[in-house]
Amino acid sequence: MAATFYKYIILGGGVAAGYAAREFASLGVLPGELAIISKEAVAPYERPALSKAYLFPEGAARLPGFHTCVGSGGERLLPDWYAEKGVELILSTEIVKVDLAEKTLASSFGGIFKYGTLIIATGATFIKLSDFGVQGADAKGIYYLREIDDADSLVEAIRAKPGGKAVIVGGGYIGLELAADLIINKLDVTMVYPEPWCMPRLFTSEIAAFYEGYYQNKGVKIVKGTVATGFESDASGNVNLVKLKDGRELPADIVVVGVGARPLVSLFKGQVEEEKGGIKVDAFFQTSVPGVYAVGDVATFPMKIFNDKRRVEHVDHARKSAIQAVQHIKATEKGTSVAEYDYLPFFYSRSFDLSWQFYGDNVGDSVVFGQTDPSVPKAKFGAYWIKDDKIVGAFLENGSPEENKAIAKVARVQPPVTSKEALLASGLEFASKI
Ligand code: FDA
Ligand code: NAD
Repeated sequence: MAATFYKYIILGGGVAAGYAAREFASLGVLPGELAIISKEAVAPYERPALSKAYLFPEGAARLPGFHTCVGSGGERLLPDWYAEKGVELILSTEIVKVDLAEKTLASSFGGIFKYGTLIIATGATFIKLSDFGVQGADAKGIYYLREIDDADSLVEAIRAKPGGKAVIVGGGYIGLELAADLIINKLDVTMVYPEPWCMPRLFTSEIAAFYEGYYQNKGVKIVKGTVATGFESDASGNVNLVKLKDGRELPADIVVVGVGARPLVSLFKGQVEEEKGGIKVDAFFQTSVPGVYAVGDVATFPMKIFNDKRRVEHVDHARKSAIQAVQHIKATEKGTSVAEYDYLPFFYSRSFDLSWQFYGDNVGDSVVFGQTDPSVPKAKFGAYWIKDDKIVGAFLENGSPEENKAIAKVARVQPPVTSKEALLASGLEFASKI
């Protein structure tokens, strides 16, 4: 079969792909030069919506409402936008073989695509419980969430089991956001996770205590310090019981699993350098192979502010890394340059009427300030992380846009801290004065 050539191909049609396409269009791309190849059936969209408004019982978000690039306040790129710009959207097309030396991509349908420049934006996928041999984990009624098709299956299951029992396996981002969604949908929700508190990747025990208390007040039951070791199903193969390592058993009509993600790098194994589980890139998102870039969840990049190499699985970086790569591609063509990527990590989450933001790094000692009683309506509290006598990270629940800007600034500026007691007493005011 003859290969179809594009000057630029973006492999993957998620968040990074949408922002890259917009940047190409703004810097100038001719009709027919750029293609996005995605196994999803829809144009790039803001993935965070899937674990939030997409699952609301009323007024739920639906496409085309959350195509990129609305998530950062930009123009919404509808499928027509790609057609108008001459950007080829090759959807429902999974690439199953990549030859970086030959510059070819082969699809599961046998189509061959050739490129001048490739941007790898394949993102990540969920880790499955069957990956670590949990017995019965392939039963019907056990759900994972990454793509819009997964969210549609979950919506169907929620509607089919009004008032049913839901077990959430995992106490990270998916666990916390989905527990809230399912309670709002009036299911009876139990969360199970192995750690002593939720979101241990980021939260201190004190921060976690607020969210756990808040969730419990909303009716979520929490089982900590154990894992799901098996599932039982009824005669039709639908899950009906979750067995825990500590011997307890939880009846379940629906199970939602969020036990982490793994970057989709296997197509490129042995062809490109990897580091820390991702594709190794420089400050312009160039991989070890000339003309091949990697952005978003798959890229391990130099985190200049911490003099470290990191992979980040959050939307702000997906957007910004895509923009940086495209700016570098276009600058290189013109013989000019762009500044190195100098990223300040930014993570956020929303559930119920809660909303937090975090900037920087959660290492060293922490100081938690403000109102941490979960029964107080609209409680506002925050935290600073201090390493080598400097603030390196900042967290705020229920911040205003100005307050969130202030904590971002404090994490970027890294002011010195002489007294933790004084920092605690000054709280948010410390950030506001920077
Ligand atoms: P992304 O996963 O968005 O896109 C990858 C694309 O590549 C997909 O379209 C996939 O189908 C396609 N693909 C993969 N392999 C392919 C192949 N072989 N052939 C063709 N196509 C292929 N972050 C945050 O900061 N705040 C938040 O609130 C949330 N909320 C959130 C909710 C949910 C449900 C998830 C799953 C994730 C989040 N995130 C988040 C994380 C954030 O969405 C994530 O970091 C970005 O989507 C990463 O963007 P990428 O473009 O790298 O991957
Ligand atoms: P995560 O890494 O945030 O959380 C994984 C959690 O799984 C751990 O905290 C732990 O509690 C739990 N766990 C691990 N092994 C377990 C086991 N055997 N049994 C029970 N629990 C176990 O991953 P996630 O929540 O699955 O999220 C998937 C991806 O989606 C990540 O890349 C995440 O960044 C992204 N995401 C981000 C947001 C956000 O930024 N607001 C929201 C949703 C999803």
